[in-house]
Amino acid sequence: MDWGMKNRISKIIRPQDGRCVMLAVDHGYFLGPTEKLENASRVIKPLLPHIDSLMITRGVLRTSVNPSVEIPIVLRVSGGSSIVGEDLSNESTTTSIEDALRVNATCLATSIFVGSKYEYQTLTNLAKLVDEGEKFGIPILAVTAVGKEMTRDYRYLALACRIAAELGAHIVKTYYCDNFEKVVEGCPIPVVIAGGKKLSNELDALQLAYNAVHHGAAGVDMGRNIWQSEYPVGMVKAVRAIVHDNYEVKEANQILATEKEIRTPSTVNTTNAVNTT
Ligand code: 5RP
Repeated sequence: MDWGMKNRISKIIRPQDGRCVMLAVDHGYFLGPTEKLENASRVIKPLLPHIDSLMITRGVLRTSVNPSVEIPIVLRVSGGSSIVGEDLSNESTTTSIEDALRVNATCLATSIFVGSKYEYQTLTNLAKLVDEGEKFGIPILAVTAVGKEMTRDYRYLALACRIAAELGAHIVKTYYCDNFEKVVEGCPIPVVIAGGKKLSNELDALQLAYNAVHHGAAGVDMGRNIWQSEYPVGMVKAVRAIVHDNYEVKEANQILATEKEIRTPSTVNTTNAVNTT
């Protein structure tokens, strides 16, 4: 592997512990102005000090992130379908390698839809992107998107992750599942997990991150469970503590609890309130 490729991968997955905290804010590419991500700039800014990399499309990068940002960019380069369209799996590569280089992307991300109508198309998109990335030393993150007709179990996810690795992806993002260690075991590249839909309980989201890294994940690429929380900074700090500092869920939840106390105006008011009754 070339120096440039190794160098870029080391920006995404920390060599010190082999783990990563990636923040996903690319949802708009097929979901439009996703709840609580309507103003991407406002969402992203306070989270930057707590993440290792940012997964984003070129449009939102250019419009909503200051170019002096020090965080490496994982550029979402696949798309072409929307939530109201005929089939989400009908994706192609939507950003050229030249434009990815222009925005100084450290890694490129593309979805694969194994078992879907457009399986062949999305798998060959990945293979071609790997060829392009190899020319310039840019690693590829394959995202194992799961169609409605598929079950998110370890057999399916292991199949999708292994295919991504076989086609040359450098990192694969998938979902956590029972027997997750079997997904990791059959995949010779680092596996990171998506958070999925916002869970009603923050502890469950922290438990998900904990379970994933304790069953072999190299970290997280989470979105909604962080920025759809009432306390996104607390959530990202708590997730980071689990991924990089080996915190237990309860300890990480304490970080979140502290953040809640700091940021809840009523707490501040209560502390300083003059009792007038
Ligand atoms: C969409 C994606 C998202 O980035 C991914 O789903 C991660 O976000 P979340 O934690 O909200 O699921 O790749 O295809």
